[in-house]
Amino acid sequence: MTSLAGRTAVVTGAGQGIGEAIAGALHAAGAEVVVADIDLAAAERVAAELGERARAAPVDVRSRASLAALLDDVDGPDVLVNNAASTVSRSFWEIEPAEWDDVLAVNLRGVFLGCQLAGPRMRERGWGRIVNLSSLAGQQGGAIAGAHYAASKAGILVLTKIVAKELAGDGVTVNAIAPAAVRTPALAAMPPERLEAVRATIPVGRFGEPREIGALAAFLCSEDAGYVTGATFDANGGLFMR
Ligand SMILES: NC(=O)c1ccc[n+]([C@@H]2O[C@H](COP(=O)([O-])OP(=O)(O)OC[C@H]3O[C@@H](n4cnc5c(N)ncnc54)[C@H](O)[C@@H]3O)[C@@H](O)[C@H]2O)c1
Repeated sequence: MTSLAGRTAVVTGAGQGIGEAIAGALHAAGAEVVVADIDLAAAERVAAELGERARAAPVDVRSRASLAALLDDVDGPDVLVNNAASTVSRSFWEIEPAEWDDVLAVNLRGVFLGCQLAGPRMRERGWGRIVNLSSLAGQQGGAIAGAHYAASKAGILVLTKIVAKELAGDGVTVNAIAPAAVRTPALAAMPPERLEAVRATIPVGRFGEPREIGALAAFLCSEDAGYVTGATFDANGGLFMR
């Protein structure tokens, strides 16, 4: 895979879990990485572990001003990974409108704002990579997360295609990754019996590892992936096959 040396990558929600692994994979590919998170202490820990060519930055992806300030502070970016999300487990009948709005604001408006702010900067440079984190929940409805989460992740899939078409002629690709059952802090917090019940449904027989999503994201951000745009990549252990 081609190197990302000289490229600047911003990863939102990179203070833990999949975002942390994506930041690590882009860093290993040679990029300068901005580890952005609403939890600045978590972002600082990740950036310190990565070392040279990494730094932490605060961001609240619900806020256009916050995302604009983040992007104004970097050279580029060449790569934006819209990974930050709020994963809320709630029965459909119990979702309050305020919680619906907040989950949509983080998960869907955050991606819309990230694409709208970063797209023109990438277009101007004639090169860019945007990767949006969707979910199996956005394709099939969530087994664990609520309808607000699933609806936001479904929205990301069509938004990815719309932005991909807008930027396709300018050297900028936009793709989505739809993971499921990846071993992250949220998963680790589940009771062991529930975890085992979920594991038993996964055709490959195990949970996914964050580094596996990181490797896929790094490929999509590479030079070699320039012909791939508007696509959704399933990384779900075979839970959903097209
Ligand atoms: N873990 C899985 O199995 C799985 C499955 C499908 C999809 N995904 C998707 O992958 C992505 C990462 O998942 P994860 O499990 O690592 O999530 P996580 O909940 O472990 O981490 C999310 C990160 O986003 C940050 N964040 C939350 N709200 C924010 C905001 N308003 N602004 C900026 N940062 C904010 C959090 O502080 C946290 O560091 C998410 O988009 C998630 O929906 C994960």
